[in-house]
Amino acid sequence: MLKTHLLSLRLVVGLVVLFGIAQGLNPKCEVNEQGGGSALKVFHVYSPCSPFRPPKPVSWEENVLKMQAEDQARLQFLSSLVAVPVGGAKKSIVPIASGKQLNAQSPSYIIRVKVGTPAQTLFMAMDTSNDVAWLPCKGCVGCSSTTVFDSNKSTTFKSVPCGAAQCGQVNNAVCNGKACGFNMTYGSSSIAANLSQDTVRLSIDPVPGYTFGCIQKSTGSSVPPQGLLGLGRGPLSFLSQTQNLYKSTFSYCLPSFRSLNFSGSLRLGPSSQPLRIKYTPLLKNPRRPSLYFVNLKAIRVGRKIVDIPPSALAFNPVTGAGTIIDSGTQFTRLVAPAYTAVRDAFRKRVGNATVTSLGGFDTCYNVPIVPPTITLMFSGMNVTLPPENIMIHSAATSIQCLAMAAAPDNVNSVLNVIANMQQQNHRVLFDVPNSRLGVARELCT
Ligand SMILES: *[C@@H]1O[C@H](CO)[C@@H](O)[C@H](O)[C@H]1NC(C)=O
Ligand SMILES: *[C@@H]1O[C@H](CO)[C@@H](O)[C@H](O)[C@H]1NC(C)=O
Ligand SMILES: *[C@@H]1O[C@H](CO)[C@@H](O)[C@H](O)[C@H]1NC(C)=O
Ligand SMILES: *[C@@H]1O[C@H](CO)[C@@H](O)[C@H](O)[C@H]1NC(C)=O
Ligand SMILES: *[C@@H]1O[C@H](CO)[C@@H](O)[C@H](O)[C@H]1NC(C)=O
Ligand SMILES: *[C@@H]1O[C@H](CO)[C@@H](O)[C@H](O)[C@H]1NC(C)=O
Repeated sequence: MLKTHLLSLRLVVGLVVLFGIAQGLNPKCEVNEQGGGSALKVFHVYSPCSPFRPPKPVSWEENVLKMQAEDQARLQFLSSLVAVPVGGAKKSIVPIASGKQLNAQSPSYIIRVKVGTPAQTLFMAMDTSNDVAWLPCKGCVGCSSTTVFDSNKSTTFKSVPCGAAQCGQVNNAVCNGKACGFNMTYGSSSIAANLSQDTVRLSIDPVPGYTFGCIQKSTGSSVPPQGLLGLGRGPLSFLSQTQNLYKSTFSYCLPSFRSLNFSGSLRLGPSSQPLRIKYTPLLKNPRRPSLYFVNLKAIRVGRKIVDIPPSALAFNPVTGAGTIIDSGTQFTRLVAPAYTAVRDAFRKRVGNATVTSLGGFDTCYNVPIVPPTITLMFSGMNVTLPPENIMIHSAATSIQCLAMAAAPDNVNSVLNVIANMQQQNHRVLFDVPNSRLGVARELCT
């Protein structure tokens, strides 16, 4: 099943390996893994080929409601990422999730990673709003994954000692004898991990001495089974740890979650990035230093610019307000005044069809409609979303919904989050050294 892949073709450096996914093999899921340059495949956690898809087939409605519930918690998690003074120095908080934040960090897109020497293949969820990385490790009590990292089988594995600099970069560090560990709560679960180092390989480049948490103990059921790869901006993030190799530059193209093929890609480093791409400045908000902020100035529905109170979109370094691009939230969330204005303009354009709701979506239709386009107007860049990034459709019934919602109504609801469904089939480039974010349409589904 050789798939000609537009992107990979540009990047091929030989080495074509055909293999199926470790668990839950579906012959349709075989991928043509082209180990080119620094590009790697990305797939949705609920994709039919994902080993992490729900065990029983669930209805479209159930799936949507589940994703919405995850988003609700995700938004609370993102809101909780505020910098607070710790011992005099500003430090990004490693998430302490409350019970309400079930699956708070559970991101939607997965990549394959090789860890240790010889390499063990594991999955990690990519998360642009997180700094830490972790993996379920052998001997873990309570981890749900069947694929775990066995540190004993790796000749390059090291545990991080208590006095090490990295130990000072995690919150709630604890000393297990000589080794540095950390405990954290996660949804209704808690995790105990040892801070560890080993060689990881996302694409062809080995990253020696990569620091991550090796999970030893997990309670409750809210810890996602796969590992997590933080692509945020903090000191322990993958970007910071590979600064010399990838220069804090990466891009991804996220495929639709229905896509069978592992057609998304994550490209690391400046050399493999597109030349023709539109840019908007990437902003850093000192109140939420791990997150990727942009300046969303206005939103157009069809040709009309929606009347949104300027305060709803304003970037504010004091309150941490503004707009972020996030790989882990599924559906775009706008603060209530912005969402209401966009939704009303959208409904008006659709016309007379009866509006219904589904879970957190309040603008659904049971009859065919022609949705207007929605354009996100950033500083220096307009991004017009195609219909498939605006409406979520049921395969079984005729229902379709505007795939956006209002941000949860609480004191922290100052963040607009451009989520992954709205980013699907676009190349999104994070160019940290030049403080810019690029977006270009690219079909990767
Ligand atoms: C996946 O790839 C195969 C082979 O190239 C192709 O025939 C099929 O249409 C693709 N499926 C999807 C969902 O993109
Ligand atoms: C690693 O090997 C040591 C010594 O054989 C053993 O005590 C320990 O339980 C092993 N650890 C794991 C995670 O398998
Ligand atoms: C890992 O952590 C456990 C408890 O969390 C501790 O008992 C053990 O000594 C640690 N092992 C290493 C190699 O750091
Ligand atoms: C961390 O978690 C481990 C394992 O659950 C537990 O034994 C230890 O007491 C915890 N340490 C702290 C400081 O909470
Ligand atoms: C909406 O309904 C009114 C009255 O039934 C009709 O005159 C009008 O043409 C309809 N508009 C659209 C956009 O369908
Ligand atoms: C975005 O679209 C508006 C019209 O709605 C236009 O005035 C503006 O110049 C466009 N911006 C860019 C950067 O193309």
